[in-house]
Amino acid sequence: MRSASALAAGTDRALEYLTGFGNHFATEALPGALPQGRNSPQRCPYGLYAEQLSGTAFTAPRHANRHTWLYRIRPAAVQGEFRALEHPGLLGQFAGLPAPPDPLRWSALPVPQEPTDFIDGLLTAGGAGSSDAHSGCAIHWYRANRSMRERFFYDADGELLIVPQLGRLRVASELGRLDVEPQEIVVVPRGVRFRVELLDAEARGYLCENFGAPFKLPDLGPIGSNGLANPRDFLTPVAWYEDRDGPMELVAKFGGALWSAELDHSPLDVVAWHGNHAPYKYDLRRFNTIGSISYDHPDPSIFLVLQSLSDTPGVDAIDFVIFPPRWLVMQDTFRPPWFHRNIASEFMGLIHGVYDAKAHGFEPGGASLHNCMTGHGPDAQTFERASRADTQTPQRIGDTMAFMFETRTLIRPSPRALALPQRQRDYARCWQGLGRHFNAQAREPR
Ligand SMILES: [Fe+2]
Repeated sequence: MRSASALAAGTDRALEYLTGFGNHFATEALPGALPQGRNSPQRCPYGLYAEQLSGTAFTAPRHANRHTWLYRIRPAAVQGEFRALEHPGLLGQFAGLPAPPDPLRWSALPVPQEPTDFIDGLLTAGGAGSSDAHSGCAIHWYRANRSMRERFFYDADGELLIVPQLGRLRVASELGRLDVEPQEIVVVPRGVRFRVELLDAEARGYLCENFGAPFKLPDLGPIGSNGLANPRDFLTPVAWYEDRDGPMELVAKFGGALWSAELDHSPLDVVAWHGNHAPYKYDLRRFNTIGSISYDHPDPSIFLVLQSLSDTPGVDAIDFVIFPPRWLVMQDTFRPPWFHRNIASEFMGLIHGVYDAKAHGFEPGGASLHNCMTGHGPDAQTFERASRADTQTPQRIGDTMAFMFETRTLIRPSPRALALPQRQRDYARCWQGLGRHFNAQAREPR
């Protein structure tokens, strides 16, 4: 296929990025394309149209307000009529689905053999809440073996957090292009139009479709002004556009379903923009990990990368958490995650390497779901190993990158996910080897 740069008109710049999280950026692909002094002048430079894209309420507080002014060849309203688009793998409504309280785990899903682009290859793992109510999320796997070409996508139901696990992607959006590889993430805000190109033969990963408030960086409290994910490591694309006519398709995720409309031009025709409702990428390997240097395994909230706030202070709707390479130095401590039951629901995936709480079965590309109050923790083998490990010496967990989408509400698995052959129906057996060690006559641990 032709590369995106070959498709580009008006600029042949390589990929360039702006740094910062949530800044009000200003960028133009042609000199002087950004109007000066006003957002919607009577006539825009180069004969462009002005269009505002609002990701939050007009009246949202300034620190939380997300909006962008676009200066484009044609406004987004120039499009055909939408028709329903069937998609066997995608599920948009979750109320009433049966949700077993069992711990669930899946092996990695294979990339299909037949031609499959990013949209075709979506498969819903589960979801919570309602996109209509702008509350909750859907969690999908994506698998692809070819680029979207004359096909573009936007999601009115939510913001998209893309977590590649296999293969590099180029996300070409209205606001510019982002290249990402496994161990990096990309976030595409609600409504932004884009296509996903493959930079390798195959691609696979995870997708959190956040119906609620846009992801933000957490406050740091006593940690101070640095740490966790630092704002300067977030990259936002510079303006880039293509001036391309021809039959094309615009796919929308709207009201829990997919819709398709014809276009006679590429919607990636924004020549200049300013604002903060924009895609961004982040390299998870840049995360500054904070942990215990004395004793005990801290709560996983120390690994928080991004949060979507709920209406309840202190209770996030969604937390995006990672478990990156780190040192474990806690003394006289059971170092892996302890056994636990949480009010939150936890969908985990493994991007790279091994995860320290499981000896087997949780592989790169795989996933697990531990819903509200479902007991889980280290498997029997890990418990035995960690109970007898030398905690006077530091331990390096060097080859790992796991993540968690943690939600305040129940994640109902999709019927397709429950029926997948990759579901490990014997998963709960990993704890059955945890024997009884209790002895009322012996206070000292064995
Ligand atoms: Fe957990």
